[in-house]
Amino acid sequence: MGGVLARHLAKLGHHVSIANSRGPESLAALAAEIGGTPVSIFDAAKAGEIVILAIPTKAAADLPRGLFANVPDSVVVIDTGNYHPELRDGHIDAIDLGMLDSQWVAQQIGRPVIKAFNNILAKSLLEKGVPSGTKERIALPVAGDSPEAKAAVLRLVDDLGFDPVDSGVLDDSWRQQTGTPAYCRDLEAAALRRALADADQTRIAEYRAEREASLSRSS
Ligand SMILES: NC(=O)c1ccc[n+]([C@@H]2O[C@H](COP(=O)([O-])OP(=O)(O)OC[C@H]3O[C@@H](n4cnc5c(N)ncnc54)[C@H](OP(=O)(O)O)[C@@H]3O)[C@@H](O)[C@H]2O)c1
Repeated sequence: MGGVLARHLAKLGHHVSIANSRGPESLAALAAEIGGTPVSIFDAAKAGEIVILAIPTKAAADLPRGLFANVPDSVVVIDTGNYHPELRDGHIDAIDLGMLDSQWVAQQIGRPVIKAFNNILAKSLLEKGVPSGTKERIALPVAGDSPEAKAAVLRLVDDLGFDPVDSGVLDDSWRQQTGTPAYCRDLEAAALRRALADADQTRIAEYRAEREASLSRSS
């Protein structure tokens, strides 16, 4: 997801910095290919106006403590993550007990996040962006508490070729989590709004388990 977003954003003319846990040297080839700059995690956190976390959910706990301490409040942090306890992350008690995926990530990094890009597959994100106004344009939900931060991400979604849909505050973001009716179905805006409204809060864990089971069967 990070690679796809970096590629598209660089193509749109954004200055893009990329980081991972192995250090900038490991990203030199990718950075050269997409026109980005490989940096350390610390430099990525303070490199620009928007920071995108496209890492496994459990890895949020491994990010350096105080990573965002000196990063201005105006810098927006996007979480693209989905919690996968069986397939990848192991069990995270707080989420199993009802905390939402992105609330847990925000708690780990000590910073509010905007949840976006979590419910589109990397392949669709890579291939299916189209200009605004195109028929059957895929829509993506954006959830978060700061109206200014959310507005910036809604604009980014549009720039990347998708219809931006405001899906509420972070407390509402369960509606776009793993396995919900809005999850990875490449819906257009009206259908996405219906799918978000159709989600059943009592089924959050069940949605996730069904999706993980279906991914296990297909792998
Ligand atoms: N794949 C999809 O279609 C898709 C779609 C929507 C949302 N998502 C969600 O988006 C997130 C990323 O998924 P992905 O499929 O892009 O995963 P991925 O291909 O496994 O990439 C994860 C990236 O995170 C980096 N990383 C891992 N631990 C890190 C750490 N502690 N510090 C810094 N970087 C770290 C990895 O690099 P190093 O290992 O070198 O550090 C790698 O570059 C996940 O939460 C996933 O559920 C995925």
